[in-house]
Amino acid sequence: MRTLIVGVQGMLGSDLITHIPNGQQVIGTDINDFDITNQEETLRALGQIKPAWVINAAAYTQVDRCEEEREQAFQVNTAGVKNLALACKEIGTKLLHVSTDYVFDGKTKKPYREGDAPNPLSVYGQSKAEGESAVQNILDDFIIVRTGGLYGKGGPNFVNTIVKMAQERDELTVVNDQWVSPTYTVDLSKAIGTLVKLSPNGIFHVVNSGHCTWHEFACTIVEEIGSTSRVIPISSEHYNRPAARPAFGVLDCSRFTQVTKTTMRPWKEALREYLDLR
Ligand SMILES: NC(=O)c1ccc[n+]([C@@H]2O[C@H](COP(=O)([O-])OP(=O)(O)OC[C@H]3O[C@@H](n4cnc5c(N)ncnc54)[C@H](OP(=O)(O)O)[C@@H]3O)[C@@H](O)[C@H]2O)c1
Repeated sequence: MRTLIVGVQGMLGSDLITHIPNGQQVIGTDINDFDITNQEETLRALGQIKPAWVINAAAYTQVDRCEEEREQAFQVNTAGVKNLALACKEIGTKLLHVSTDYVFDGKTKKPYREGDAPNPLSVYGQSKAEGESAVQNILDDFIIVRTGGLYGKGGPNFVNTIVKMAQERDELTVVNDQWVSPTYTVDLSKAIGTLVKLSPNGIFHVVNSGHCTWHEFACTIVEEIGSTSRVIPISSEHYNRPAARPAFGVLDCSRFTQVTKTTMRPWKEALREYLDLR
Protein backbone atom coordinates (compact mmCIF):
# COMPACT_ATOMS: atom_id res chain seq x y z
CA MET A 1 0.00 0.00 0.00
CA ARG A 2 1.38 3.40 -0.99
CA THR A 3 0.79 6.38 1.32
CA LEU A 4 1.51 9.96 0.28
CA ILE A 5 2.31 12.54 2.95
CA VAL A 6 1.67 16.07 1.73
CA GLY A 7 3.55 18.78 3.68
CA VAL A 8 6.41 16.43 4.56
CA GLN A 9 8.85 19.22 5.38
CA GLY A 10 6.60 20.66 8.07
CA MET A 11 6.78 19.88 11.78
CA LEU A 12 4.17 17.11 11.71
CA GLY A 13 4.96 15.90 8.17
CA SER A 14 8.61 15.25 9.04
CA ASP A 15 7.56 12.90 11.87
CA LEU A 16 4.77 11.28 9.87
CA ILE A 17 7.24 10.04 7.28
CA THR A 18 9.20 8.08 9.91
CA HIS A 19 6.33 6.89 12.09
CA ILE A 20 3.80 5.48 9.65
CA PRO A 21 3.85 1.71 10.34
CA ASN A 22 6.14 -0.69 8.51
CA GLY A 23 4.73 -2.44 5.50
CA GLN A 24 3.53 0.79 3.97
CA GLN A 25 5.41 2.44 1.15
CA VAL A 26 5.55 6.09 2.20
CA ILE A 27 6.25 8.99 -0.14
CA GLY A 28 6.53 12.59 1.03
CA THR A 29 5.94 15.77 -0.98
CA ASP A 30 5.98 19.46 -0.20
CA ILE A 31 5.33 22.71 -2.02
CA ASN A 32 8.47 22.25 -4.16
CA ASP A 33 7.03 19.00 -5.54
CA PHE A 34 3.52 20.29 -6.12
CA ASP A 35 1.48 23.18 -4.78
CA ILE A 36 -1.90 22.08 -3.42
CA THR A 37 -3.38 25.46 -4.40
CA ASN A 38 -2.89 24.47 -8.04
CA GLN A 39 -5.73 22.13 -8.97
CA GLU A 40 -4.12 20.75 -12.15
CA GLU A 41 -0.73 20.12 -10.52
CA THR A 42 -2.42 18.40 -7.59
CA LEU A 43 -4.47 16.08 -9.79
CA ARG A 44 -1.46 15.30 -11.99
CA ALA A 45 0.79 14.51 -9.00
CA LEU A 46 -1.75 12.21 -7.34
CA GLY A 47 -2.43 10.55 -10.70
CA GLN A 48 1.28 9.80 -11.11
CA ILE A 49 1.92 8.63 -7.54
CA LYS A 50 -1.36 6.68 -7.30
CA PRO A 51 -1.39 6.40 -3.49
CA ALA A 52 -3.96 4.35 -1.62
CA TRP A 53 -3.92 7.08 1.05
CA VAL A 54 -3.11 10.78 1.10
CA ILE A 55 -2.28 12.27 4.51
CA ASN A 56 -2.51 16.04 4.33
CA ALA A 57 -0.22 17.82 6.80
CA ALA A 58 0.26 20.84 4.51
CA ALA A 59 -1.25 24.09 5.74
CA TYR A 60 -0.70 27.77 6.19
CA THR A 61 -0.13 27.64 9.94
CA GLN A 62 1.05 31.12 10.95
CA VAL A 63 -2.04 31.99 12.95
CA ASP A 64 -1.35 35.70 13.44
CA ARG A 65 -0.13 36.28 9.87
CA CYS A 66 -3.36 34.70 8.58
CA GLU A 67 -5.25 37.77 9.90
CA GLU A 68 -3.38 39.98 7.41
CA GLU A 69 -2.90 37.36 4.72
CA ARG A 70 -6.49 36.20 4.60
CA GLU A 71 -6.43 35.28 0.94
CA GLN A 72 -3.30 33.16 1.31
CA ALA A 73 -4.82 31.38 4.37
CA PHE A 74 -7.99 30.45 2.45
CA GLN A 75 -5.99 29.53 -0.65
CA VAL A 76 -3.95 26.90 1.21
CA ASN A 77 -6.26 25.81 4.05
CA THR A 78 -9.52 25.76 2.10
CA ALA A 79 -8.95 25.81 -1.69
CA GLY A 80 -5.82 23.63 -1.43
CA VAL A 81 -7.66 21.07 0.70
CA LYS A 82 -10.57 21.13 -1.76
CA ASN A 83 -8.11 20.41 -4.61
CA LEU A 84 -6.70 17.45 -2.69
CA ALA A 85 -10.19 16.10 -1.94
CA LEU A 86 -11.24 16.45 -5.61
CA ALA A 87 -8.07 14.70 -6.79
CA CYS A 88 -8.62 11.90 -4.23
CA LYS A 89 -12.18 11.46 -5.48
CA GLU A 90 -11.03 11.39 -9.11
CA ILE A 91 -8.43 8.66 -8.59
CA GLY A 92 -10.17 6.73 -5.81
CA THR A 93 -7.70 7.57 -3.04
CA LYS A 94 -8.55 7.90 0.64
CA LEU A 95 -7.79 11.19 2.38
CA LEU A 96 -6.76 11.79 5.97
CA HIS A 97 -6.77 15.53 6.55
CA VAL A 98 -5.25 17.21 9.63
CA SER A 99 -7.23 20.02 11.24
CA THR A 100 -7.23 21.99 14.46
CA ASP A 101 -8.93 22.82 17.77
CA TYR A 102 -8.99 26.44 16.47
CA VAL A 103 -12.19 25.58 14.57
CA PHE A 104 -13.89 25.96 18.00
CA ASP A 105 -14.45 29.17 19.95
CA GLY A 106 -13.26 27.66 23.26
CA LYS A 107 -16.06 29.32 25.21
CA THR A 108 -17.00 26.13 27.06
CA LYS A 109 -15.19 24.32 29.88
CA LYS A 110 -15.94 20.84 28.56
CA PRO A 111 -13.55 19.08 26.16
CA TYR A 112 -14.92 19.31 22.60
CA ARG A 113 -16.46 16.24 20.94
CA GLU A 114 -16.31 15.65 17.20
CA GLY A 115 -19.99 16.56 16.74
CA ASP A 116 -19.74 19.95 18.47
CA ALA A 117 -20.38 22.89 16.19
CA PRO A 118 -17.30 24.76 14.94
CA ASN A 119 -17.30 28.51 15.57
CA PRO A 120 -13.81 29.78 14.74
CA LEU A 121 -12.54 33.06 16.16
CA SER A 122 -9.69 33.68 13.72
CA VAL A 123 -9.02 33.70 9.97
CA TYR A 124 -6.81 30.64 10.44
CA GLY A 125 -9.64 28.82 12.26
CA GLN A 126 -12.19 29.84 9.61
CA SER A 127 -9.95 28.71 6.75
CA LYS A 128 -9.35 25.36 8.47
CA ALA A 129 -13.08 24.89 9.24
CA GLU A 130 -13.92 25.52 5.58
CA GLY A 131 -11.20 23.05 4.57
CA GLU A 132 -12.93 20.44 6.74
CA SER A 133 -16.27 21.23 5.08
CA ALA A 134 -14.72 20.81 1.63
CA VAL A 135 -13.46 17.32 2.57
CA GLN A 136 -16.87 16.36 3.98
CA ASN A 137 -18.76 17.70 0.95
CA ILE A 138 -16.56 16.06 -1.67
CA LEU A 139 -15.72 12.67 -0.17
CA ASP A 140 -17.92 9.97 1.33
CA ASP A 141 -14.99 8.18 2.90
CA PHE A 142 -12.43 10.38 4.70
CA ILE A 143 -10.72 10.92 8.03
CA ILE A 144 -10.33 14.36 9.58
CA VAL A 145 -7.98 14.46 12.57
CA ARG A 146 -8.35 17.54 14.75
CA THR A 147 -5.40 18.18 17.03
CA GLY A 148 -3.83 21.03 18.99
CA GLY A 149 -0.81 22.34 20.90
CA LEU A 150 1.70 20.57 18.64
CA TYR A 151 5.42 20.41 19.26
CA GLY A 152 8.08 18.28 17.58
CA LYS A 153 11.63 18.35 16.35
CA GLY A 154 10.77 19.51 12.85
CA GLY A 155 9.55 22.99 13.59
CA PRO A 156 9.43 26.14 15.63
CA ASN A 157 7.06 25.50 18.53
CA PHE A 158 6.11 26.59 22.05
CA VAL A 159 8.45 24.09 23.78
CA ASN A 160 11.53 25.25 21.86
CA THR A 161 10.58 28.90 22.42
CA ILE A 162 10.24 28.42 26.20
CA VAL A 163 13.52 26.44 26.40
CA LYS A 164 15.34 29.25 24.58
CA MET A 165 13.72 32.00 26.66
CA ALA A 166 14.50 30.15 29.91
CA GLN A 167 18.15 29.97 28.89
CA GLU A 168 18.29 33.70 28.15
CA ARG A 169 16.05 35.31 30.81
CA ASP A 170 15.37 35.17 34.54
CA GLU A 171 11.66 35.77 34.05
CA LEU A 172 9.12 34.90 31.39
CA THR A 173 5.43 35.74 31.19
CA VAL A 174 2.88 33.24 29.87
CA VAL A 175 -0.92 33.34 29.70
CA ASN A 176 -2.79 31.38 32.37
CA ASP A 177 -6.36 31.73 31.08
CA GLN A 178 -6.08 29.60 27.95
CA TRP A 179 -6.12 25.80 28.08
CA VAL A 180 -4.45 23.32 25.73
CA SER A 181 -3.60 19.64 25.44
CA PRO A 182 0.12 19.74 24.52
CA THR A 183 0.68 17.11 21.84
CA TYR A 184 3.91 15.53 20.61
CA THR A 185 4.07 15.11 16.83
CA VAL A 186 5.62 11.63 17.20
CA ASP A 187 2.59 10.45 19.23
CA LEU A 188 0.19 12.08 16.78
CA SER A 189 2.01 10.49 13.83
CA LYS A 190 1.70 7.02 15.38
CA ALA A 191 -2.01 7.67 16.07
CA ILE A 192 -2.52 8.74 12.46
CA GLY A 193 -0.73 5.53 11.34
CA THR A 194 -3.19 3.52 13.44
CA LEU A 195 -6.19 5.32 11.94
CA VAL A 196 -4.91 4.76 8.39
CA LYS A 197 -4.50 1.05 9.17
CA LEU A 198 -8.01 0.71 10.63
CA SER A 199 -9.54 3.03 8.05
CA PRO A 200 -12.62 4.27 9.92
CA ASN A 201 -14.69 7.14 8.55
CA GLY A 202 -15.25 10.67 9.90
CA ILE A 203 -13.76 13.13 12.34
CA PHE A 204 -11.40 12.15 15.18
CA HIS A 205 -9.96 14.27 17.96
CA VAL A 206 -6.38 13.26 18.74
CA VAL A 207 -4.21 14.95 21.39
CA ASN A 208 -2.03 13.70 24.24
CA SER A 209 -4.07 12.98 27.39
CA GLY A 210 -4.79 15.68 29.93
CA HIS A 211 -4.76 19.44 29.63
CA CYS A 212 -3.24 22.51 31.25
CA THR A 213 -2.92 26.25 30.81
CA TRP A 214 -0.07 27.55 28.63
CA HIS A 215 1.42 28.87 31.90
CA GLU A 216 1.43 25.39 33.44
CA PHE A 217 2.84 23.99 30.19
CA ALA A 218 5.70 26.54 30.37
CA CYS A 219 6.34 25.85 34.10
CA THR A 220 6.62 22.13 33.35
CA ILE A 221 9.11 22.75 30.53
CA VAL A 222 11.23 25.05 32.72
CA GLU A 223 11.19 22.51 35.56
CA GLU A 224 12.07 19.59 33.27
CA ILE A 225 15.15 21.35 31.88
CA GLY A 226 16.28 22.34 35.39
CA SER A 227 16.08 26.08 34.74
CA THR A 228 15.62 28.55 37.60
CA SER A 229 13.73 31.09 35.44
CA ARG A 230 10.46 32.29 36.94
CA VAL A 231 7.33 31.88 34.85
CA ILE A 232 4.92 34.71 35.62
CA PRO A 233 1.22 34.08 34.85
CA ILE A 234 -0.56 36.80 32.87
CA SER A 235 -4.04 37.11 31.45
CA SER A 236 -4.54 37.03 27.67
CA GLU A 237 -5.86 40.61 27.95
CA HIS A 238 -2.28 41.62 28.66
CA TYR A 239 -0.86 39.63 25.76
CA ASN A 240 -2.28 41.19 22.65
CA ARG A 241 -1.95 39.19 19.49
CA PRO A 242 -3.61 39.82 16.11
CA ALA A 243 -5.57 36.53 16.12
CA ALA A 244 -7.96 35.49 18.90
CA ARG A 245 -7.35 31.99 20.30
CA PRO A 246 -9.96 29.70 21.86
CA ALA A 247 -9.70 29.97 25.65
CA PHE A 248 -10.52 26.28 26.14
CA GLY A 249 -8.81 24.44 23.26
CA VAL A 250 -9.26 20.99 24.73
CA LEU A 251 -10.41 18.01 22.66
CA ASP A 252 -12.19 14.89 23.88
CA CYS A 253 -10.47 11.85 22.33
CA SER A 254 -12.92 9.15 23.45
CA ARG A 255 -13.98 8.34 19.88
CA PHE A 256 -10.32 7.71 18.96
CA THR A 257 -9.90 5.49 22.03
CA GLN A 258 -13.10 3.57 21.32
CA VAL A 259 -12.24 2.90 17.66
CA THR A 260 -8.50 2.18 18.00
CA LYS A 261 -8.60 0.60 21.52
CA THR A 262 -5.62 2.78 22.36
CA THR A 263 -5.23 5.82 24.58
CA MET A 264 -2.89 8.70 23.90
CA ARG A 265 -0.28 8.90 26.68
CA PRO A 266 -0.28 11.78 29.21
CA TRP A 267 1.16 15.02 27.88
CA LYS A 268 3.84 15.30 30.59
CA GLU A 269 5.23 11.85 29.72
CA ALA A 270 5.43 12.75 26.02
CA LEU A 271 7.02 16.13 26.81
CA ARG A 272 9.71 14.46 28.96
CA GLU A 273 10.63 12.15 26.07
CA TYR A 274 10.81 15.06 23.63
CA LEU A 275 13.02 17.12 25.96
CA ASP A 276 15.33 14.12 26.59
CA LEU A 277 15.76 13.48 22.87
CA ARG A 278 16.50 17.09 21.97
N1 LIG B 1 1.32 23.55 14.98
C1 LIG B 1 0.26 23.36 15.77
O1 LIG B 1 0.30 23.63 16.97
C2 LIG B 1 -1.00 22.78 15.20
C3 LIG B 1 -2.11 22.66 16.05
C4 LIG B 1 -3.28 22.09 15.54
C5 LIG B 1 -3.33 21.66 14.23
N2 LIG B 1 -2.25 21.81 13.43
C6 LIG B 1 -2.39 21.34 12.06
O2 LIG B 1 -1.45 20.30 11.86
C7 LIG B 1 -1.00 20.29 10.50
C8 LIG B 1 0.51 20.32 10.46
O3 LIG B 1 0.95 21.50 11.14
P1 LIG B 1 2.51 21.86 11.27
O4 LIG B 1 2.65 22.69 12.50
O5 LIG B 1 3.33 20.63 11.07
O6 LIG B 1 2.66 22.85 10.01
P2 LIG B 1 3.98 23.42 9.33
O7 LIG B 1 5.19 23.06 10.13
O8 LIG B 1 3.72 24.86 9.02
O9 LIG B 1 4.05 22.59 7.96
C9 LIG B 1 3.16 22.80 6.90
C10 LIG B 1 3.84 22.35 5.64
O10 LIG B 1 2.93 22.60 4.56
C11 LIG B 1 3.67 23.14 3.48
N3 LIG B 1 2.81 23.93 2.60
C12 LIG B 1 2.33 25.18 2.81
N4 LIG B 1 1.61 25.58 1.74
C13 LIG B 1 1.64 24.56 0.84
C14 LIG B 1 1.11 24.38 -0.46
N5 LIG B 1 0.40 25.36 -1.05
N6 LIG B 1 1.34 23.21 -1.11
C15 LIG B 1 2.06 22.23 -0.53
N7 LIG B 1 2.61 22.36 0.70
C16 LIG B 1 2.41 23.51 1.38
C17 LIG B 1 4.68 24.04 4.18
O11 LIG B 1 5.71 24.39 3.29
P3 LIG B 1 6.46 25.83 3.53
O12 LIG B 1 7.03 25.78 4.90
O13 LIG B 1 7.46 25.87 2.42
O14 LIG B 1 5.37 26.86 3.40
C18 LIG B 1 5.12 23.15 5.33
O15 LIG B 1 6.16 22.27 4.93
C19 LIG B 1 -1.69 21.48 9.84
O16 LIG B 1 -2.86 21.05 9.21
C20 LIG B 1 -2.07 22.38 11.01
O17 LIG B 1 -3.19 23.19 10.68
C21 LIG B 1 -1.09 22.35 13.87
